[in-house]
Amino acid sequence: MPSVFIKTYGCQMNERDSEAVAAQLLARGYALSPSEHEADVVLLNTCSVRDFAEQKALGKMQSLAGTARSQGRSPILGFMGCMAQSRGAGLLEEQPRAHLVLGTQKFHRAAEHLDALLSGRERQVVDVAEEARSQDTIREHLPAAGARAVTAFVSIMQGCNQHCTFCIVPFTRGEERSRTIPDVVEEVRTLVSRGVREVTLLGQIVTSFGRREIPVREGKSGFVQLLEAVQAVDGLERIRFTSPHPKGYGDDLIGAFGRLSKLTEHAHLPLQSGSDRILKQMHRGYTRDRYRGLVERLRAAHPDMGVTTDIIVGFPGETEDDFAQTLSFCEEIAFEQAYLFKYSPRRDTPAASLPDPVPQEVIEERHARLLALINRLASEKFANYVGRTVEILVEGPSRKNAARFEGRTRDNRIVIFPGSDRHLGELLPVRIERAGAFTLYGDPAIVGFSPADAAVESPSVPEPLPA
Ligand code: 5AD
Repeated sequence: MPSVFIKTYGCQMNERDSEAVAAQLLARGYALSPSEHEADVVLLNTCSVRDFAEQKALGKMQSLAGTARSQGRSPILGFMGCMAQSRGAGLLEEQPRAHLVLGTQKFHRAAEHLDALLSGRERQVVDVAEEARSQDTIREHLPAAGARAVTAFVSIMQGCNQHCTFCIVPFTRGEERSRTIPDVVEEVRTLVSRGVREVTLLGQIVTSFGRREIPVREGKSGFVQLLEAVQAVDGLERIRFTSPHPKGYGDDLIGAFGRLSKLTEHAHLPLQSGSDRILKQMHRGYTRDRYRGLVERLRAAHPDMGVTTDIIVGFPGETEDDFAQTLSFCEEIAFEQAYLFKYSPRRDTPAASLPDPVPQEVIEERHARLLALINRLASEKFANYVGRTVEILVEGPSRKNAARFEGRTRDNRIVIFPGSDRHLGELLPVRIERAGAFTLYGDPAIVGFSPADAAVESPSVPEPLPA
């Protein structure tokens, strides 16, 4: 039985795609290999969002081919995902020792192509065509993959129509296409029957789910209708989603927080810039005022709403004044966490041909300043948790310390505590004793405490240290 190793670069959607391909290959008689240096097939699931990610995958392919040759092995080597889609056959010219280039609408054909390559029927395969209803093919999950099976990702759509001027995704993932609500619900039901307690609904812009396919009903968008349908799945405890777009938060979605008990209080809301001038050039479709108003509405809907974001530093033409506006806006919003990206020109995107590129050393310097601010804001938020009792969903042994267990708060913070297997998949009240930079440390709270109390408990002021 041939063995396969899949290495994933980039986002959660890529992780999900890799899982679906792994599940498909298992079903077709392949085994999963623990090592890239022993596998008969190695697939790199690539990311194109920044040049850095592409270079990493290209370097990896070269080193895989080199190591295999020095070991006297000849595994099948393949690229899949975004870079495979955008570079197509060109990838094999650049990396002639690779065998497969599998595009973003063709994941479900992986086994068929690998069979042909392993049997020698084909020497190289490039399959990057568009395929109708490819969004319906990302639905197979690995059978309970150890402790992480408490949570699962569910892809609800593919593609993106927003065409932000910096972004390569519309070229790599194609037009927006949604699955049907019954199909997604069926997948969630199956996951729950296997022990999953939390699902994260995934899409490039999930708030656009069903925009063309599903009519608005009683003022509710297709996405809110989907949330309601998933809420109704018995045994599911929590629903998350990522990424939304600020334009997708109508009153229907804001109203869903609180009304839908399983919908957690977390919004990953990519801001990209705090300057209206830059936002316009990015084609983001909102202003800072509108974004601020949205965060206010979200926090009014739930006081514990966690708001996290993505920001690009050094978009072409970004002046010191534009950047100062990003700094002041981050301070004002006080994000719980932010992911910072140094602008990377992407082929075929409108921003790549804009004048006034920001010099690399200026990008580095701005990035460092913004990172310091974001870290300070995040640590203040983390410190606020000390002394509070919060509800966590226990996911399994801690990734940092296998002797401990970890779970997440409803607003998506990791809590490490002294747990055991019997806690797996439970909603547990935990008292936070200490806050690290990205992690909270807690103890299971007093027996008899009801998780419902956690939601209403207000943050307590930590005791001042003795002088
Ligand atoms: N350069 C830098 N960052 C980018 N992102 C998307 N395209 C680029 C680019 N060309 C960032 C955005 C997006 C995140 C997933 O990646 O912030 O939200």
